[in-house]
Amino acid sequence: MTVDDIKQVAVIGSGTMGNGIAQVFAQSGFGVILIDLSEEHLNRAVSTITGSMERLVKKERMSADDKDAALSRLATSTSLAQAKTAEVVVEAVTENLDVKSKIFGELESICGPETIFASNTSSLPITQLANTTSRADKFIGMHFMNPVPIMKLVEVIRGLATSQETYDLTAELSKRLGKTPVEVNDYPGFIANRILMPMINEAIYAHMEGVGTVEAIDEVMKLGMGHPMGPLFLADFIGLDVCLAILEVMHDGLGDPKYRPCPLLKKMVQAGYLGRKSGRGFYTYDK
Ligand code: CAA
Repeated sequence: MTVDDIKQVAVIGSGTMGNGIAQVFAQSGFGVILIDLSEEHLNRAVSTITGSMERLVKKERMSADDKDAALSRLATSTSLAQAKTAEVVVEAVTENLDVKSKIFGELESICGPETIFASNTSSLPITQLANTTSRADKFIGMHFMNPVPIMKLVEVIRGLATSQETYDLTAELSKRLGKTPVEVNDYPGFIANRILMPMINEAIYAHMEGVGTVEAIDEVMKLGMGHPMGPLFLADFIGLDVCLAILEVMHDGLGDPKYRPCPLLKKMVQAGYLGRKSGRGFYTYDK
């Protein structure tokens, strides 16, 4: 299969990452079926995608006609069976190995043997996920960054058994989405989170130890290092539960105490302070 053979893509999971991924595929000329468990989640996703495209039209980064065409290429369904005609499936459901494995197990009997399975996991092992299917050579990580329509990176993660053909196809596909693929081997945290999460964790330690206020820590990194968001604001943006889960995967998988999650991060997650999505994290937000 070449990238020109890819006409239809299925995106499983319509949360922040899933709806962003569906949007960029639809904008790039692919037919997209966005699949989730409930109509309510799907309706919310379509309204987010429409809002994001309207923002791009307003900023003159997209024409109104292109927006209408992209939306017409996007369909939704609550049935996984609708992934049947997809040449590529991108999974972006909750970061839970059992949930993801179950979905790939079902997709195995729905999709043809040539269909490429990609996971947007931010930290779970691609090699292990691939091994829950009988197509480990056609299994790959496609790790998009939030907000997906804006961020240029796709970490393309090779599992131990991923074939060169699957890698080349996925890298080419990422380019068709207007993204820059970066080749990454499958180790906990890949590259992005291996480097980002220790910085966020250290910022939380610095705050816990009273080195500086939340605002002071973020100001230092924004004004001193030119980061677009301070690390604590970014942690809220990503979700504190997601940050904790990624640090736990790295701590467990790499065994080095430098990845131990800060106790304040654990306490905030226990309190339900999950960042922007829950209305409270290091900052407070209007829901
Ligand atoms: N859809 C469409 N357009 C969007 C958008 C969206 N969802 N989000 C932002 N934009 C556009 C805005 O309209 C704006 O357009 P112009 O430049 O034409 O004005 C542009 O993006 C910048 O947005 P804002 O002016 O609102 O705000 P900003 O300048 O602060 O930029 C940001 C926002 C791009 C998110 C920037 O703050 C940033 O780069 N932050 C860091 C994000 C980051 O690190 N992401 C990675 C997180 S880690 C991850 O995702 C992986 C993981 O596994 C945890």
